Amino acid sequence: MNLFRIKSLSSFTEGTNRQNLKKNMGALDMLLLGVGCIMGTGIFVFTGVVAAKYAGPGIVVSLLLSAIACVFCALCYSEMASTVPFAGSAYTYSYATLGEFMAWIVGWSLVLEYSLAASLVAAGWSAYVTGLFKSAGVELPKAFTAVAADGGIINIPAMLILLFLSILLVRGTKESATMNKILVAVKLLAVFIFLFLAGPKVNTANWSPFMPFGFSGVMTGAATMFLAYIGFDCVATAAEECKNPNRDLPIGIIGSLMICAILYISVAAVLTGVIPYQELNNAEPVAFALREIGYNMGSALVGTGAIAGLTTVLLAVMYGQSRIFFAMSRDGLIPASICKIHPKYGTPHLITIISGIIVAVIAGLTPVDILAELVNIGTLFAFLTTAIGVLVLRKTAPNTHRPFRCPAVKFVAPAAIICCSYLMYSLPIQTWIRYSVWIAVGLVIYFVYGYRNSILEKSDKVVLKKVV
Ligand code: ALA
Repeated sequence: MNLFRIKSLSSFTEGTNRQNLKKNMGALDMLLLGVGCIMGTGIFVFTGVVAAKYAGPGIVVSLLLSAIACVFCALCYSEMASTVPFAGSAYTYSYATLGEFMAWIVGWSLVLEYSLAASLVAAGWSAYVTGLFKSAGVELPKAFTAVAADGGIINIPAMLILLFLSILLVRGTKESATMNKILVAVKLLAVFIFLFLAGPKVNTANWSPFMPFGFSGVMTGAATMFLAYIGFDCVATAAEECKNPNRDLPIGIIGSLMICAILYISVAAVLTGVIPYQELNNAEPVAFALREIGYNMGSALVGTGAIAGLTTVLLAVMYGQSRIFFAMSRDGLIPASICKIHPKYGTPHLITIISGIIVAVIAGLTPVDILAELVNIGTLFAFLTTAIGVLVLRKTAPNTHRPFRCPAVKFVAPAAIICCSYLMYSLPIQTWIRYSVWIAVGLVIYFVYGYRNSILEKSDKVVLKKVV
């Protein structure tokens, strides 16, 4: 058996009529793209949940630690994205460096990450829509807006938005750069309104005790908040369209991560300052806090901004998920028939609809904390292998053109590996058990189907032609 067969860098371009994308994106475009994809549930949902459950006001430290880990990962990710700029993200990078078996595990973890992230963001979206109705004096029935663990039966709004966006994605709706800029502006405005209204009401007594669950609580908080920074991969995958990747890519990635980190930390500090952390276990903490301190109108405004912001993140995540499946099917590891391209819209319609239905069912029934922990473990694993991949590729293909080179790679890549490992270790044991079950299912699929049907086993071009 050859579990470690590697897809050569040249094979990514063979057999396809690859066209070069226009290089028309500058540093500011990259920065806004990053903020558009990153800022979502992390700020609008998890600041409250994580403060209440794990970190208390110490969540600001959790956010800082996770941002530092993310910067190391982002630098490695950028080098890989610019060197192997093809669909599939960390799955594709692993295939080119660590071999098929690891690539399958990474791809399977990314499927988990993207699917559950979509369900998670949809749950946040639903909470803000419900809150908006509440601000307008309309109480939606809890039975149909919350999962059983939160006292409801099923989360219908979360399901509806996922199904609606799946249809939109099938029709090939691509976020235009202008639309993205408008939505990012609305999202940022929502955050500033919150800081402006709630900031003066901070009662510093609420910050004490600062770490009610100890430093281990802060670390669990950091691992859980890691998902708040997911999305910088959008910037990395636009490497091909960047005018000057060596300069603009790091500005876009590091810049958007820093903007998000500063805003997350400010919002978390104000939130835990106006409302005692114990009361923040709520899926729309930012709007909730404003309602609690008497700003009903402000709460509605911020809620509307949050809904716009969560929608952009949702689209980015769902788009990413269908492209991972697509890359895996192009390599023959999952059946090509389910990733067929729609003759009119040119999108992988079947897999988009199937995964839309699956994530809608998950979002309708699963509590957000379980979703969040699984999203994090899958993502951390993917970033960990990407950092290893960077080191491997520097050894195996030292002369390959790298439009962006990770600075101080001998320090940054090991730092990313250590940070991801430690954050994974900080996640609860139940998360590890659920993740192991997911990987075990993946391994069965790989050995029953993927290994035998891999195009590295057969002829490259036949399958590529069939799918593309
Ligand atoms: N970073 C994204 C969010 O916070 C996944 O929603």
